[in-house]
Amino acid sequence: MNFFQYRGSELCAEEVPLSRIADQVGTPCYVYSLATLRRHYRVFDDAFGAVPHLVCYSVKANSNLAVLRAFAREGSGFDIVSGGELHRVLAAGADPRKIVFSGIGKTRDEMAYALREGILQFNVESAAELDALDDAAREAGRKAPVALRVNPDVDPKTHPYISTGMKKSKFGIDIRRALEEYERARTLSHLEVVGVDCHIGSQLTDVAPFRDALSRVRGLVLDLRARGFDVRHLDFGGGLGITYDEETPPEPRDYAAALLGDGLDKLGVKLLLEPGRVIVGNAGILLTRVLYRKDTETKKFVIVDGAMNDLIRPALYGAYQEIEPVKRSGRAAAVVDVVGPVCESGDFLAKDRELPETLPGELLAVRSAGAYGFVMSSNYNSRPRAAEVLVDGAAYHVVRARETLDDLVRGETIPETLR
Ligand code: LLP
Repeated sequence: MNFFQYRGSELCAEEVPLSRIADQVGTPCYVYSLATLRRHYRVFDDAFGAVPHLVCYSVKANSNLAVLRAFAREGSGFDIVSGGELHRVLAAGADPRKIVFSGIGKTRDEMAYALREGILQFNVESAAELDALDDAAREAGRKAPVALRVNPDVDPKTHPYISTGMKKSKFGIDIRRALEEYERARTLSHLEVVGVDCHIGSQLTDVAPFRDALSRVRGLVLDLRARGFDVRHLDFGGGLGITYDEETPPEPRDYAAALLGDGLDKLGVKLLLEPGRVIVGNAGILLTRVLYRKDTETKKFVIVDGAMNDLIRPALYGAYQEIEPVKRSGRAAAVVDVVGPVCESGDFLAKDRELPETLPGELLAVRSAGAYGFVMSSNYNSRPRAAEVLVDGAAYHVVRARETLDDLVRGETIPETLR
């Protein structure tokens, strides 16, 4: 459920008409609903209420400071994958003891930064990274709390680019080799083994792969216990999908019930969860204005001011994002391609989409853009990145200003010899 709804013929974010935001802030522009962000967070957190757990919101999905602050205020922890994300969550007021650090390529500097801040857990993905972290911890005069991210080799049945838990994936340590690596970790003096971690992919719409992964990871936890490891945390990653089109993903409570029903509640671990998309995906839209119409012999194009640099999911994954007119016109529908100004044929927001006829100057809302939207945007074609707006009831706040032309060349210099 989200708070983007039509009031009369006008699409609103909570109580604010999107046309007002477009007129005052300009387009393209991301708009998030605070009530939706909070609701999604709470529904997810409550679903696991029966067991000790910590929701570590996955920052990569949407890392705007205001969004992070809203979650920090709810008591959320954070799943980060870079020093940059650590900087952001700390700036947003996160509690370092609720931060888990994932990712296969942590640099020494990033490790040192996270050690200084005293984070909850490092999710380590290779033997080489274990050694590097042990070294970094020795240098910092600390013990690094460690979980190994294991690869349980299950097929999450999602887009190949966002499947992570299969044998051929670059992620995690083969679950069959995990015991050996845990034994080695135990001998490294500046590491403290605290848990087990796994994440099998993103936009999963069925609980079966989660259950398969859990049963394998559960076996590992029991084996580790039998060998005297004090396994306190089971980090089960993120990945729960959302409805973009006609998918019917499990509700958080069904997801939780499936995991807990499989004996997780009796495992005696604190459950860490790293949801991203399910919390923020449907809490945001991309607002864009129609520039031109162009009809060719074979196609009708609606050319808008938002492009693949603003929202790359359709171009990169062939992803479906629902598009709605901000003002319902009652005009007849036609099948169109909604495309942006970027000089690539891959620059489209929708292909062969049935949409009510829209005229230049009118506004469209691209739904489900709260996750992996702004965060994946770029300056390609020297397009300033879009503004981000947070709606709270009848008020809205610009939480990231639109980039300026000067922002585009900041940091660049022309060498003396070319002057
Ligand atoms: N934890 C880890 C270790 C992850 O790699 C990810 C996502 C998450 C948690 C959060 O997963 P979520 O709950 O959001 O599914 N750009 C792609 C999605 C990439 C996901 C990467 N990892 C997209 O736009 O669909």
